[in-house]
Formats: sequence, structure tokens, C-alpha cells
Amino acid sequence: MKNFYSNIYSFNLRILKKTVKNLNQGNLVAIPTETVYGLAGNAYSIKAVKNIFKIKKRPKKNPLIIHYHNISKAKNDAVFNKNFYLLYKKFCPGPLTFVLKKKKNSKIAPFATSNLKTVAIRFPKQKIIRSILKYIKFPLAMPSANISSSLSPVNATDVFEELKKKINIIIDGGNSKIGIESTVIDLTKKPKILRPGAITRGDLNRFFKIKYSNNNSKIKSPGMLKKHYSPGIPVILNKKPKYPNQAYIVFGKKFKNNKNYFNLSKKANLKEAAANLYKIMRKIKKKGYKKIYVTKIPNKGLGLAINDRLKRASK
Ligand code: TXA
Ligand code: MG
Repeated sequence: MKNFYSNIYSFNLRILKKTVKNLNQGNLVAIPTETVYGLAGNAYSIKAVKNIFKIKKRPKKNPLIIHYHNISKAKNDAVFNKNFYLLYKKFCPGPLTFVLKKKKNSKIAPFATSNLKTVAIRFPKQKIIRSILKYIKFPLAMPSANISSSLSPVNATDVFEELKKKINIIIDGGNSKIGIESTVIDLTKKPKILRPGAITRGDLNRFFKIKYSNNNSKIKSPGMLKKHYSPGIPVILNKKPKYPNQAYIVFGKKFKNNKNYFNLSKKANLKEAAANLYKIMRKIKKKGYKKIYVTKIPNKGLGLAINDRLKRASK
């Protein structure tokens, strides 16, 4: 059924069919995933892929993640290796993105991978995106459904705030369970984390030693811009605000319930904090605060991904 925002729909068979029809025609649709909402288009269609870059105002050199229902659908586009099989078996479907060599005869629009010889692939877990992927005959190029460098959307109204009516369909799947983007791991050589995310280095280290340089001076992934995930107001890390018109993002039970305090997790739970991060930053902006201060967040487990996003938001 249509609700107040005329392009937001809840999911049912009719909307599934409408979505598939739109994707078949090369149109774009915003779809929920377990990490964040994505702006999806046919990865084999030049028209669809070009439109993704245009609508997001995304730099051409920032390649897209290609999403599949399962391994058999991905084998025409990416060269699998031992490490891939190992991690696929353990974590997929799920919030892990693999950078692999692209197959020479892959039909992916070259624009989608910024003309690279590699391709990033992911098998999302959320049931709406999975049912769509099952119905279509092509994979989906799907970046987060926000204007480039702004906050990723974690529910349908966030997407609307970002993209308004530039697309016909935004599917409402409630709040994204994880709330932070997938982990991107490069498997073309020695495994290396390019973007910390929902699957932690600790999770991955149980299988093999993974490199992740915490050195932020270098761009690790093409298009992994330093300034990113920005709420549109200054973000200041590891500092307390001086005035009550400045918002304070806190973590743990030692912080009071002041009006300008926004607790990522009272229980000091990093999973809960990750799920709240973008939601809270968006809320603070909407309330009209001019600055966001952030307390120190533990730099372990999911905290690594949270701190990565906060650091980029503060640039
Ligand atoms: O959780 C997610 O991954 C979400 C949902 C919608 O699936 N998608 C997402 O896409 O975060 P996006 O476009 O916002 O981020 C894609 C990241 C970028 O950092 C990009 O540089 C990296 O993946 N990437 C894509 N292709 C790559 C490649 N061939 N080599 C290295 N990095 C690549
Ligand atoms: Mg993004």
C-alpha cells in the first residue's frame, strides 16, 4: 500500500512484480538490505548504471558493489579462489563484500566497476532483497541509497530524504538490522580489509590472517573518499561540547540523559551502537543542532567500523 510519501511502498507480491518490471526496464529502485538501503539497478545495463552515478552525484572512479542471489549466478562475472569459497561458506548470504578478479567475458557494464579489472560482489541476507534477486535474470549494482558523501539511509524515509522523487519506488523494509555497511575485503592477493564493516576483523581472523592498515592517510579502496558519511554539520571527535546547543554522541551508562546527549548504546553494546549511528546523526541534524561532538568509542570489534565512519564524517 502507498503511504504518505507517494513513492514509498511496503513489500508484497504486487510491488515485487512492479519492482522487477522497473529493473527489467533499466529503472532504479531503492531496496532494503540488512546493512543499509541500496539504490539498485541492472548491473548489465549501461543506462541503469550511468543513472546510479548521476542520481547519487557519485564520482565516476568510485566502483559499485554487484549483488547476487547466490554463487552460481556470480560465477560468470568473478573469478573465485580458495579464500573466497572459504568465506562464502561461512558468511554468505551476509554483510561481506569480496573484491575479486573480473571475468573477461563478464556482462557487467564497465562503468559499474569504474573500468577496473576487479569486481566487488556481495550476497545480501535481508529477505526482501533476496526475493527480488531470485526473480531477476541479472545482478544488481547497488550502492547505498544516499547522495554521495552523505549518510547512508537505514530506513525508507531516510532514502526519501536523500533521493526525494528521483526514483519511482522505495521499498519499505523497516530499519536495517545492522545499520552500517558491509565489510569490503580484497581477495585478489593477500586478503586485506578495504572497508571495515559489519563482519569484524576478529570474525575473519579465525580463518586467516587479514591485513587492515589503520593508517587513514591513504585511500584504500578506489573512491573510498576521506570525507564521507557526513551529516552535513561539523563532527568533532573525542571531545565534550561546551554549550547545550551542541549535540553530544555518547556511549555507555555513565552518561546522563541530557537533552543534547544522544546515546548510541546505554548498555555499551557495539552492535546496538552501529545500528543507531546513522539514525542518530540524521536525527541530530534534523533537530537543528549546528555541531556534533562525539565521545571516544572503543576501537575493537564493530567499534572499528563505527570509528572509521566517524572519522570520515569529521573530515
Ligand atoms: O552494505 C553495503 O555494502 C551497501 C549495501 C547497499 O549493499 N552498499 C554499499 O555500497 O555500501 P557503496 O557503493 O556505498 O560502497 C561500495 C564500496 C566503496 O567503498 C567502493 O570503493 C568499494 O565498495 N568497491 C567497489 N568495487 C571495488 C573494487 N573493484 N575494488 C575495491 N573496492 C571496491
Ligand atoms: Mg555509500
